Amino acid sequence: MGTQRVGIIMNGVTGRMGTNQHLIRSILAIREEGGVILPNGDVIMPDPILVGRNEKKLQALAEKHHIERWSTDLDQCLANPDDQIYFDAQTTVHRTESVKKAIAAGKHIYCEKPTSTSLEGSLELAKLAKEAGVKNGVVQDKLFLPGLQKLKRLIDSGFFGQILSVRMEFGYWVFEGDWQEGQRPSWNYRKEDGGGMIVDMFAHWRYVLDNLFGNVTAVSCLATTHIPNRVDEQGNEYKCTADDAAYATFELEGGIIAQVNSSWAVRVNRDDLLTIQVDGTEGSAVAGLRDCKAQHRINTPKPVWNPDIENPFNFTEQWSEVPNNQIFDNGFKVQWELFLKHVVADGPFPWDLLEGAKGTQLSDLGIQSWQERRWIEVPELKL
Ligand SMILES: NC(=O)c1ccc[n+]([C@@H]2O[C@H](COP(=O)([O-])OP(=O)(O)OC[C@H]3O[C@@H](n4cnc5c(N)ncnc54)[C@H](O)[C@@H]3O)[C@@H](O)[C@H]2O)c1
Repeated sequence: MGTQRVGIIMNGVTGRMGTNQHLIRSILAIREEGGVILPNGDVIMPDPILVGRNEKKLQALAEKHHIERWSTDLDQCLANPDDQIYFDAQTTVHRTESVKKAIAAGKHIYCEKPTSTSLEGSLELAKLAKEAGVKNGVVQDKLFLPGLQKLKRLIDSGFFGQILSVRMEFGYWVFEGDWQEGQRPSWNYRKEDGGGMIVDMFAHWRYVLDNLFGNVTAVSCLATTHIPNRVDEQGNEYKCTADDAAYATFELEGGIIAQVNSSWAVRVNRDDLLTIQVDGTEGSAVAGLRDCKAQHRINTPKPVWNPDIENPFNFTEQWSEVPNNQIFDNGFKVQWELFLKHVVADGPFPWDLLEGAKGTQLSDLGIQSWQERRWIEVPELKL
C-alpha cells in the first residue's frame, strides 16, 4: 500500500470558513483519519501550507494545529512544484486574481463560492482552467447536508410523484453590531467588498435547484437593504451598501416553481435556518440542514377553512421523519475527499468552475431582474 502526499496551498484559512470548515473539519480531519483511501488501497495524504497576509495570525493558527508550513508569500508558494493544489477561501473580491495566478502556475484549483463577483470573472476562470488542463472544483457544500441528502433520497425513490413547487426559507437575525456583536463579517454588508445576499446565496441556490429539481430557466427577484447601518469589527459604524434580503421566484425545467426567501433580517420561526418544502402530487417533504420530514398523500389530512372554531389540527405533528439510514460526514470534508480522488485518481467530480460560474450567472441575473423589475430568462452557460 503506497501513500501519495498531495501538497495544498491553502489561502484565506484564517477566515471563518477557511479555519473551521476547510482546515479543521476537512484537511486536518482527513489527516487524523489516516488520509483518503483509494480503491486499490493506496492512500492520499494532504499536506497543507497555510498562506495569508497576517504573519501573526498564520503562525498562531499553524502552531495551534501543529502545521509546519505557512507563508505570507503566495507567489513563492505557487512556484513550489511539490504543492499541486491551490485552495482559496479569501473574501470573494480577492479570489479571481489569486486563482488566475495559480492556474498560470499549473496548480489544480479548488475554491469557495462564489468564484468571482461577476459572471465574466467566473467564466474567465473556468476557461483559463480548461485551457491550462488543470483539474478544478468549487465548494457546493449544501448538496452534502444530511437534510438535503434525505430529500434527494425521496426524489430518487419517486416519492413525490410529479414535483410541483419548492419553497425555501433561508435566514436569521444577524446582529447589527452596536449592542451585540454581529455574527457575520462586516464585508458581507458592503457591495464594494463583495458583499450582498444575492451574490452570496444565489451561488448556493443555483446548484441546489439544478441538482435536486431541474435547471433554473428564469428568475424574478426583489432585493433590499433592510438594515441601513451596521457596526464593524473595530466598533465603527458603516453604511450597508449591499442587499441583506432577497425575495426571488425561479422557474425550473419541467415547470417546477421555486420560491426562495433569503434574509439576514428575519427571526427564525421554523425548524431550521434553511428549510426546503417540496410539494408533489404523491407527497410532500420539508428538509432542514440535518433532518427531513415527509407526508404522503395517504396521510394528508383534510382541513376545512373555519376560523369560528379552535384549530382542530396540529399540522406540525402530521409528518414522519425520514430516517438517517447512513452516517453523514461533514459535507465540506466529503467534497474535499472527492476532489483529492479527482486529482490523484481521476475520480468523478462534476462541481467544476463552470458549475460555479452558473451560480454567479444566477446572481447577476437576479440583480438585473431586481434593478429592471422584470422576469429574466437564464440562458444555457457554455465555455
Ligand atoms: N460555502 C459556504 O457555505 C460559505 C459560507 C460562508 C462564506 N463562504 C465564502 O467563503 C469566503 C470567505 O468567507 P468568510 O465568511 O470565511 O470570510 P472571513 O472574512 O471570515 O475570511 C476571509 C479570509 O480572506 C482573507 N482576506 C480578507 N481580506 C483580504 C485581503 N484584502 N487580501 C487577502 N486576503 C483577505 C482573510 O484574512 C480571511 O482569511 C467568501 O468568498 C464567502 O462567500 C462560503
